[in-house]
Amino acid sequence: MSNPLKLGLAGLGTVGVSVVKRLAQLENELATASGRAMRVTAVTARSRDKDRGVDLSACEWFDDPVSLATSEDVDVYVELMGGDSGAAEESVRAALAAGKHVVTANKALLAKHGNELAKLAEDNGVMLNFEAAVAGGIPIIKTMREGMTSNDISRVYGIMNGTCNYILTRMELEGLSFDECLKDAQRLGYAEADPTFDVEGNDTAHKLALLTSLAFGTEIEADSIFLEGITSLTTDDIRAADELGFRIKLLGVALRTDTGIEQRVHPTMVPKSSAIAQISGVTNAVAVDGDAVGSITMSGPGAGGDATASAVVADLVDVARDFKVYPLGRPVGELKPYVRAKMRAHEGGYYIRLSVNDRPGAFASIAHRMAEQDISLESIVQRRTNGHFTKTDDGGSAKASEKPQAVVLITYETTEKAIRMALKQIEEDGHIAATPQMIRIERL
Ligand code: NAP
Ligand code: HSE
Repeated sequence: MSNPLKLGLAGLGTVGVSVVKRLAQLENELATASGRAMRVTAVTARSRDKDRGVDLSACEWFDDPVSLATSEDVDVYVELMGGDSGAAEESVRAALAAGKHVVTANKALLAKHGNELAKLAEDNGVMLNFEAAVAGGIPIIKTMREGMTSNDISRVYGIMNGTCNYILTRMELEGLSFDECLKDAQRLGYAEADPTFDVEGNDTAHKLALLTSLAFGTEIEADSIFLEGITSLTTDDIRAADELGFRIKLLGVALRTDTGIEQRVHPTMVPKSSAIAQISGVTNAVAVDGDAVGSITMSGPGAGGDATASAVVADLVDVARDFKVYPLGRPVGELKPYVRAKMRAHEGGYYIRLSVNDRPGAFASIAHRMAEQDISLESIVQRRTNGHFTKTDDGGSAKASEKPQAVVLITYETTEKAIRMALKQIEEDGHIAATPQMIRIERL
């Protein structure tokens, strides 16, 4: 067996500590599987004194991630700090430039600098592995980069943020508040250091940008992703979705269209009977449509120390085996420029919740604005005093009351452009008391 592979590990938080534990527990098995032993020789974190519950006495401590990344005593730099700039960016660049292999779980960094970093890895003949960056423990990068190379991929979509799915599931099933669920997700180590990245959809967008590049052979382009998070969802929306036979999930979707690639992240109503609706808690699911294989779906834990360490360690085994692939599945110079399909052209059904001033003519005016944009309504439901949504049976001319009435419209397939125009006009007509809520529907 050749010399042990020397690992320099930056970041000793949720993921870093789980990686150290896993490497220690499986030392012999991993050496047998990869033909080479692995040792953590150097570590860094912000605080040297923190007790992390793992024995790091044999490791050299570095105060500076760049010095660790370029140390003579490191073959592989394992970046588990996070952040799309600063220490993470500088140290990964330094490691690659110094001819060190890099393994990282940092999707924010790759979504922003992935094209350049992949090129730097290629130019220096080293590996840049990032299985843990997308969907936690699910080996979706390997599947798409290596297992689906003979497929022409038309769509990739899924639930890619464990924190959001955990929050939505508990809000729906246990009636808990958003803040309560988010606190638990943080306590369990699922959330990002800044959880707004989770709940505003940025984290899903980072992951989607990487999958889009692998799916379509395009440059990573995260900035043009259409983005809506879950913070504007209310328990009313979750309850209405339930009563109408849907669940709300934060989906990332990348779809090839005639005019370009549509990349979008937003809360989505999916039929309760669909496979994606069954994905609950921290679990993620990613589906890929390929011309040869058809549709495949992988699901599993999307966040958490052990699940993520599973992916990090698998990447390290690939390095130990000297299993080298282009980080983005092909040489960076061969990636196609990303061409964006305009969101206005997106087609689908919509859920609209309006707070309607209950005056004569309000419903007729709303229906008229929808008809003007050629939008057909599948159903109109109004919250009655019993607290449940029921279909209106009076064509919307309910008896006037003082309080605005919550009214939910479900449309048949239409375009984003049409729905936005109709909602703008409805707002301008002055029949509603608050900004309309709009959630896209996917009949997956
Ligand atoms: P975390 O618990 O916040 O740990 C971050 C670690 O990095 C801490 O040990 C921190 O040091 C260290 N660190 C931060 N800035 C540093 C700097 N400038 N110099 C040196 N050390 C620094 O984060 P995490 O949850 O383990 O996530 C790490 C990475 O994995 C992130 O990129 C994240 O997006 C990704 N990821 C996380 C999960 C998950 O479920 N948690 C899943 C997939 C991917 P101190 O401990 O001293 O503060
Ligand atoms: N914060 C991320 C999530 C971690 O909740 O999915 C895994 O990437």
